[in-house]
Amino acid sequence: MSITKRRRVIAGNWKMFKTQAETRAFFSAFLPLVSGVRRCDIVIAPPFTAIVAATEAARGSKVGIGAQDVFWEKEGAFTGEIAPPMLVEAGCRYVIIGHSERRQFFGETEQAVAKKTKAALSAGLTPIVCVGELLEHREAGRTEEICETQFLGGPGALTPEEFSRILVAYEPVWAIGTGKTATPEIAATVHRFLRKCAEKKFSTEQARAMRILYGGSVKPDNIQGLMAQEELDGALVGGASLDAKSFASVVNGCESAQ
Ligand code: PGA
Repeated sequence: MSITKRRRVIAGNWKMFKTQAETRAFFSAFLPLVSGVRRCDIVIAPPFTAIVAATEAARGSKVGIGAQDVFWEKEGAFTGEIAPPMLVEAGCRYVIIGHSERRQFFGETEQAVAKKTKAALSAGLTPIVCVGELLEHREAGRTEEICETQFLGGPGALTPEEFSRILVAYEPVWAIGTGKTATPEIAATVHRFLRKCAEKKFSTEQARAMRILYGGSVKPDNIQGLMAQEELDGALVGGASLDAKSFASVVNGCESAQ
């Protein structure tokens, strides 16, 4: 299957790190380091409280701001939740949905992922929908089964039109924050498998157009090897996105790998 050219995306997931002041400091150091980037999109997802500081600091640059989660209702008595239009008003263009930490620690289900994704899309946000297996799944040979279930329950529950507007992130849970990156080949194999799932559910054309980011211990020293795989359409970066210099070298590594 020949691969059509897909634009790459490097997204930083700050998790529960950085105050507003730290966010502003990050952007003043980071933006000059990525001013020459043309070929890949850059996204940063700060915690909710730093989103406005980030959108203000990123104004006029090519960096898109994202949130790390969202609720599916537009408003209502849902203490602690944030609605898609609120994210849009705060300047977000992206939102991460179904991250493994949300699935593991906050009981996020496939149904919740699908509802959040649909709601985010109808507000005009670009969801980054995460899937990925645990170490025990991989060791038991269940990687494909788990990824297929998560794919079908989340992205697979969308209409073809909705599906064409999302990004998917493959994040093997055993590689997140552990320093154990999946080899470029392991990642590419799962990406190919996800493309097959998309082909079955939607169409060959949609499967080819689907952008899949790899996530899990992506660093400046492994980005080039990962991006050498045509199957990988970018990266979702945790730890290495917190430091301006290291995130800039991940972005520049992606830019020069094309
Ligand atoms: P990591 O996190 O890069 O620190 O492994 C990736 C993620 O959780 O998105």
